[in-house]
Amino acid sequence: MIGFWNLLLLINAVLFLNYCVSCSDFERLIYVTGNERSLNSVAENYQKIDIASPQCYTTNKYGELSGGVDPILQKLSDEGKIKLLPLVMNKGFDDEILTVLLRNQTAQDLLLGSLVKEAKKHNFIGWQYDFEHLLITNRDVYTQFVAKSNLRFKQEKLNFSICVCPRSKDYTGSDPYLKFMWEEWNGGYDFLQLSKHVDFLAYMTYSEHTGATVSGPIASINWVQACVNFALSLGVPASKLSLGIPFYHGYWKTVFDKNKGIHVNGSSPSYLEILKILKDNNASLEWDTNYKVNKASFMIDYKSHHVFVEDKDSLVVKLLVLKDNNLRGICCWVAGQEDPAVWDVLSLNAKNHQTFPTTHHTNFPRYTNRDLRETIQTKKTLTKKYKKKQYFLCLTWIMLFQKQFEETISSYSWWEIYFKEKQQEPNKKQEKHSTPFLWINLVDELLEQNKEPNIQKS
Ligand SMILES: *[C@@H]1O[C@H](CO)[C@@H](O)[C@H](O)[C@H]1NC(C)=O
Ligand SMILES: *[C@@H]1O[C@H](CO)[C@@H](O)[C@H](O)[C@H]1NC(C)=O
Ligand SMILES: *[C@@H]1O[C@H](CO)[C@@H](O)[C@H](O)[C@H]1NC(C)=O
Ligand SMILES: *[C@@H]1O[C@H](CO)[C@@H](O)[C@H](O)[C@H]1NC(C)=O
Repeated sequence: MIGFWNLLLLINAVLFLNYCVSCSDFERLIYVTGNERSLNSVAENYQKIDIASPQCYTTNKYGELSGGVDPILQKLSDEGKIKLLPLVMNKGFDDEILTVLLRNQTAQDLLLGSLVKEAKKHNFIGWQYDFEHLLITNRDVYTQFVAKSNLRFKQEKLNFSICVCPRSKDYTGSDPYLKFMWEEWNGGYDFLQLSKHVDFLAYMTYSEHTGATVSGPIASINWVQACVNFALSLGVPASKLSLGIPFYHGYWKTVFDKNKGIHVNGSSPSYLEILKILKDNNASLEWDTNYKVNKASFMIDYKSHHVFVEDKDSLVVKLLVLKDNNLRGICCWVAGQEDPAVWDVLSLNAKNHQTFPTTHHTNFPRYTNRDLRETIQTKKTLTKKYKKKQYFLCLTWIMLFQKQFEETISSYSWWEIYFKEKQQEPNKKQEKHSTPFLWINLVDELLEQNKEPNIQKS
């Protein structure tokens, strides 16, 4: 017999699904290095990974391949738990290797032969080229090599993709840094032509700021969007664009050196290392509403230090770029550096067709504490008023004001909290206090927090 509460539950489920849009499956590629932390992260989270790409093969200028996959990954692959698409790099990202290799057909044939053999031997699904420091003068020969590689790999039924450094335009100015980047790092990739010869482009939308620059976000949302817009404007199909997601973070400290004077020393600590740095310095993260990443600044001995992290919060915002542009998927650099909570976000999507919050905001709204307090106060009063048997009235209220509510409290928050609760108690029977009243649950949770996400929470 369908009871009253079950009926309500059903109605609610329908309403709930109505404003959640089913997320198109997206491909989750995770890069992995040979270090233990990186390998462990993949081993622990393999169910949330569609493709694991170990950075473990290199070529020299003669097309001689060297490297090999770590036994831990090979075992996971042999057991059918992960698909391996290893990276092959020009060793040390040496530009000269590319300049020579791209002009020697014999060397290319040697390399392709080895790649095919190695892939068959170890059951790789294919290869991804990670050829970087590609000079702009090598642009056409690189495209030709990619086209040639594709023919060979397709004959052998191997998948083939390439990493490309992003850009938001073809640079024509005279800023020395941007000119250097254009001529030596990102201008050599002919995105449109390349996209015709690969399964997809791994669009490395990170490294907006590096150890070679001043402090700043690894990937601010406007920069990511501008790079995506540029590639799409050239005609690259969205289905061939995999969005680069940084799993790493930046730490810039001002240091003094007798020879160099005062200068900035940038590094990329893991998330756990970042937490320690913050804790040691009594610093906490704050959300940058412009960049849409969490950051912190503090002083040590009169010198400023800056931290920019890429965590679950910035991931959610970036997934909206993926969703809004209907991109193919994501490629994340690199396992082991990440905020552990990113896996909760990634597990909600793709394979099992989880829902994803609809948003009509290109600029993702972020609640302010005041907005939040006011909304919560109103909700709390209502919740109290209609407690017990009159929940459905509250529910109606929620449905009616859902839009307003959603705009005040960013949709990411309820979505995240709802699923977090679900994950913690996946087998919990649906009760009148749980799913139908997720908004109320949410408010309760937010009440407890009543603040922007920060480090203490994690
Ligand atoms: C081209 O590559 C082949 C294979 O590695 C090598 O034997 C040959 O010497 C190279 N040619 C030149 C001109 O470097
Ligand atoms: C890999 O190749 C197979 C067959 O060639 C194809 O069906 C599949 O879609 C490819 N996968 C990716 C990730 O491109
Ligand atoms: C930057 O700091 C790290 C230690 O945190 C040190 O190992 C490294 O040598 C420094 N780099 C430069 C260029 O000063
Ligand atoms: C951090 O705060 C604690 C307690 O207030 C204090 O003892 C410590 O010196 C502070 N550390 C720094 C680096 O400011």
